Amino acid sequence: MGKDVIVACDFSSAEQVFSFLDQFTGRKPFVKIGMELFYAEGPAIVREIKKRGHKIFLDLKLHDIPNTVKKAMSVLSGLDVDITNLHAGGTCRMMEAAIEGLTRPDGTRPLLIAVTQLTSTDQESMEQDLLIREPIDQVVMHYAANAKKAGLDGVVCSPLEAGKVHDTCGADFLTVTPGVRFADGDIGDQKRVMTPAEAKRIGSDYIVVGRPITAAEDPVAAYERCVAEFCD
Ligand code: C5P
Repeated sequence: MGKDVIVACDFSSAEQVFSFLDQFTGRKPFVKIGMELFYAEGPAIVREIKKRGHKIFLDLKLHDIPNTVKKAMSVLSGLDVDITNLHAGGTCRMMEAAIEGLTRPDGTRPLLIAVTQLTSTDQESMEQDLLIREPIDQVVMHYAANAKKAGLDGVVCSPLEAGKVHDTCGADFLTVTPGVRFADGDIGDQKRVMTPAEAKRIGSDYIVVGRPITAAEDPVAAYERCVAEFCD
């Protein structure tokens, strides 16, 4: 898979997501389904969006004992998603079990990427709440290296970290980066942002864009602008 724009469909019902997706009559966006929509509508929403011809990143961020994650991943592989994810904090053994569960009998599987440290975690909360005392950027790179060692395909990270992840884990290790805003757009609650063009320059493989597209007056035009800046 090459560079692509993934639209974060952070809606709470099938009705909302379909009325959003119905506007795209040309190029079908790669869609991210997160916990809100998945828990509201269940696996049927994944099948339905897939049937409409969209690629899907199922963002459920699994984190449990290896055996449970393995079994859950085996269910997700049956949903025929293109990318799914877990927390690297679940350890290398959990990530290896996830790969096993995700791999179908014919050897194929969706891409699997890891969340390193959430961008909502900062140095202070990591030290105080988690008792992890290393610098956060080192922790992120260590988790990315663990993900690579366990056989995963990449990480979700800030576009600001994408270059360093590629330096540490190789050019083929995927970086999927949220926190994208247009140069003339509203930042909202994101703290560290980049434009699609900057994310491209720094080497992100996929950008995840939510509100700049979903809340735009003309979502299709906003999506096409992202694609033009990032992919072309
Ligand atoms: O609307 P916005 O473009 O900020 O949406 C970004 C999407 O990426 C949301 O679905 C958000 O949950 C997700 N995300 C993020 N930052 C992370 C990980 C995921 O914004 N570190």
